[in-house]
Amino acid sequence: MDLDGARVVVAGASGVLGAAIARSLHGRGARLVLAGRDADRLAAVGVDAPVLTFDALDLERCAAVVDEAAELLGGLDVLVVAFGVAAFGPAEQAGDVITEHLLTVNTMAPMAMVRAAVPRFDGDGTAVVLSAILADHPTAGMAAYTASKAGLSAWLTAVRQEQRRQGVTVFDVRPPHIETGLADRAIEGEAPSMTAGATVEELVELVVDGIRDGRRELRYDLKERAFAGH
Ligand SMILES: NC(=O)c1ccc[n+]([C@@H]2O[C@H](COP(=O)([O-])OP(=O)(O)OC[C@H]3O[C@@H](n4cnc5c(N)ncnc54)[C@H](OP(=O)(O)O)[C@@H]3O)[C@@H](O)[C@H]2O)c1
Repeated sequence: MDLDGARVVVAGASGVLGAAIARSLHGRGARLVLAGRDADRLAAVGVDAPVLTFDALDLERCAAVVDEAAELLGGLDVLVVAFGVAAFGPAEQAGDVITEHLLTVNTMAPMAMVRAAVPRFDGDGTAVVLSAILADHPTAGMAAYTASKAGLSAWLTAVRQEQRRQGVTVFDVRPPHIETGLADRAIEGEAPSMTAGATVEELVELVVDGIRDGRRELRYDLKERAFAGH
């Protein structure tokens, strides 16, 4: 995909990874809409682009925001889903409320956005979704967080198969731990000590190059301590 002039909505653009992806795409000439929970935090991203607000707990609004972005941009070439929340602690400590929050924000909200984006792509387009390494490596102390990301990743794999003939690319990005402060903003529990597998800059370059090159997966090989994918 030619990124110069590409029409892109970044959902979760106020987050560390979302903001960095938005800035990089902007630098490569993409036309952006920034979407997130808080208009002031979106303005602080420093990219001159229209802003739309949504809360991922409101699934109808998630779909509507994609439609509104496509209207503003006169169509849509790329949806980037970069929002999410973490939770830590033994599985039996995460009650229904925390589990529902994780599954809504991390799994159902991205699904609602991808479903809304597909008809807007008008043939070819790319849905880029940040799931997590947890989809490949279910991790003790993060059971519900793991389930939310594994469910999302499996859904993306099925949608990729469905959409192949239509020309829609589904790009599942499964990063290792990266120091963004996400773990400190967990909705439950304290994060164990974790070693970063990559930097924000490394990941963003791979994501943005991956959109350009039509990649379908970016995963992290724990033995090689390196990104892999195709
Ligand atoms: N950092 C890592 O180690 C890592 C590893 C693997 C995968 N990931 C995934 O990468 C994504 C981005 O994470 P990050 O590291 O950039 O963390 P971050 O800086 O904390 O960003 C999280 C983003 O999610 C948004 N968000 C949270 N709850 C929301 C809600 N209810 N409605 C709308 N937006 C909501 C936040 O919005 P506000 O600005 O309004 O709070 C923020 O934009 C997440 O899906 C995360 O699971 C991260």
